[in-house]
Amino acid sequence: MRFVHLTDIHLEPAKALDAAPERRASYQEPAPGLFRCIRAIHDLSPKPQFLITGGDHVMDALEATPESATAQWELYSRTIKAATHLPIYPIVGNHDIFGWMNQTVPETASGYGKAMAMRYLDLERSSYSFDKGLWHFVVLDNIARRGVGYCGALADEQLAWLEKDLAEAGNRPTVLLTHIPILSVCATQFLDPSANVTFWQIPHVFVQTDSQPVVNLINRHNIPLAISGHIHMCERIEYKKTTYVCNGSVCGSWWRGAFKTFAPGFGVFDLSDDGTFEYHYVAY
Ligand SMILES: [Fe+2]
Repeated sequence: MRFVHLTDIHLEPAKALDAAPERRASYQEPAPGLFRCIRAIHDLSPKPQFLITGGDHVMDALEATPESATAQWELYSRTIKAATHLPIYPIVGNHDIFGWMNQTVPETASGYGKAMAMRYLDLERSSYSFDKGLWHFVVLDNIARRGVGYCGALADEQLAWLEKDLAEAGNRPTVLLTHIPILSVCATQFLDPSANVTFWQIPHVFVQTDSQPVVNLINRHNIPLAISGHIHMCERIEYKKTTYVCNGSVCGSWWRGAFKTFAPGFGVFDLSDDGTFEYHYVAY
């Protein structure tokens, strides 16, 4: 069973762009960058059965005005519907959330918080699960509100929900999907030449801050694969019986080419009935 995980698309209407010609060329309406990505996905052999969009579908709704957030979501919705008929399972990303970082937007505004993203992505809940073949898939929303912004964390009720969901899945091999990585190396300063190496720091917006109980749960279940995005860089971490894949991004460096040498692309996952999988990254 093959699926594609495409994440961090960061689509934005052309009129909101700066004057740099390479950016205009990248995503003027109707978003040729995303069309090119989807075309490469359709050209895969064998073809994927479904897509998982890993979050940050739009450039940024967190700080946007209501008009800009709506325009970004309208463009995303229109583009993805025109580009593909494959089934899509979406994950809400931090930049998909409307108003949390714009204090001129009242909380009573239509679509405030995650509501706008969930409406355009056709989601009833931001954490949910589904089965495909012998496999179980869990989408876990790990973006929590903190101050005038967000951090990588679970809301209180989610850990209990995850525990119950995994218990119900029994011994089915499971894929756990989040936007923000549960574990990551690329999100640290290890590879950052400007880092202060006397005291490593990992911002609370880069990696999930309350990973420990989730990792403990993962270790007690049959979860060969955990997938995230958010960092725009590719890595796979083997810890105990689970591979944590952080996938590269569709937009690379926000449509300005590769991000820290990681080219724009998507992840292709091939799952076998015996609970094993293969992953490769396609730079489209
Ligand atoms: Fe993100």
